Amino acid sequence: GQLKPWNGPRQAVVSPIHLRGPDGALTPVEIGSVPQGGIAEAQEALEAAVAAYDSGRGAWPTMPVVERIACMKSFVAQMVARRREIVELIMWEIAKTLPDSEKEFDRTVEYIRASIDALRDLDNDNSRFRVVEGTIGQIRRTPLGVVLCMGPYNYPLNETFATLIPALIMGNTMVFKPPRFGVLLFQPLLEAFRSAFPPGVINMVYGKGSEIVPHLLESGKVTALTLIGSSKVADHLKKLHPKVNRLRAILGLDAKNAAIVLPDADIELAVKECLLGALSFNGQRCTALKMLIVHRSIADRFLERFVEELDKLKFGMPWDKGVSITPLPDLAKTAYMTECVEDAKAKGARVVNAGGGESSATFFHPAVVYPVAEGMKLYREEQFGPIVPVMPFDDIETALDYVITSDHGQQVSIFSASPELVGTLVDPLVNQVCRVNINCQCQRGPDVFPFTGRKDSAEGTLSVTDALRSFSIRSMIATKKTESNEA
Ligand code: G3H
Repeated sequence: GQLKPWNGPRQAVVSPIHLRGPDGALTPVEIGSVPQGGIAEAQEALEAAVAAYDSGRGAWPTMPVVERIACMKSFVAQMVARRREIVELIMWEIAKTLPDSEKEFDRTVEYIRASIDALRDLDNDNSRFRVVEGTIGQIRRTPLGVVLCMGPYNYPLNETFATLIPALIMGNTMVFKPPRFGVLLFQPLLEAFRSAFPPGVINMVYGKGSEIVPHLLESGKVTALTLIGSSKVADHLKKLHPKVNRLRAILGLDAKNAAIVLPDADIELAVKECLLGALSFNGQRCTALKMLIVHRSIADRFLERFVEELDKLKFGMPWDKGVSITPLPDLAKTAYMTECVEDAKAKGARVVNAGGGESSATFFHPAVVYPVAEGMKLYREEQFGPIVPVMPFDDIETALDYVITSDHGQQVSIFSASPELVGTLVDPLVNQVCRVNINCQCQRGPDVFPFTGRKDSAEGTLSVTDALRSFSIRSMIATKKTESNEA
């Protein structure tokens, strides 16, 4: 794969951060370049991954777990040594604030360490024997094969590694394509990949996803696909595999998490959590609150306090102290935000905060849009950006119906001071989504908790232990009990 030196054409990488040039105009900043790979390089990467999986004893998939763990520890040590460089690349490539870029890095290191610990507890070490009805079974966790891994731009390191690391450590071999925004940050890791893992085990491919990825899947040689991204893209990609029904897919997809704010809610708490939930990293989290459903009797008070708190958020560059709102990845994203807001306005909603919806280059001033109703784009589309749609409700059934009739099923938040009332809502809701958050925003972590979704929101479960299971199969070696092996 492309861990080799590259002498071919290169593709410029442009930051979402626009800086003022000598003429005073805001212009995008070029921050580096990556190899412009194509189908030939992708094919080479695939062949390397297949060969590394199929080769004999002592190779990665058959390597004793303790040795795989040693490789992973060597990798993580080298990764930690490059922390500063990687954090700065995250910040420049996706305009994530410096503290959040640091959190992303540190959380990823923690995740790798936790995966190593969890691996020791899984039944993977040849020591699990069971004797049942005269058959001795040695149960092992074995890898799946070649895994094609793609991460998202909003957590380019963390969410790529949330699938890549467990797949790798379980003995799979990998072809991995970094996201378009968040590609340079893997460069400081190339040497670590090379020195920590045997050749062919991890193969990074660059280039146009729309060319390379279909080629890889159509080959039929990819055993598992892991993608954190859009449901539509995942559906399209899966169908390209000649044995689609046998392709294992571990997917984190679209979500439209709602917060239901009941009339007896602690408004200050609800505002604080909803603001964080809706706007941290400019709303670019799959777990973000993308619809606030607020009881009509408290809607005015809630909106007033929400806007007051929003107005305190600092806009700026990701390295500015105390900044919350930073540039979006590109102009197409700001254009889509504007389209969503204009659509809602044309259909009867208004932007309730001053300046909401205004944009300059890749900056977009968060817009609180009220009242959002069926028929508007914001009602069902996952805006994945700094827009806060707010919908009033009179009857709790309306709020529940919104969640139940959604195509998405990741999480929901409920805000209420009444444990009894919350109790009546939890059971129906937890059968519709995979996590119900009481008096707090939606989120993925802590990473030992299961992370998944129903309907179009996910396939398979991530979290430290669940991910190790997702990327492996329980296999066994069996023999009949005889007098000689009885001991
Ligand atoms: O973008 C989707 C991520 O899984 C969100 O993770 O809730 O930790 O920000 P987070």
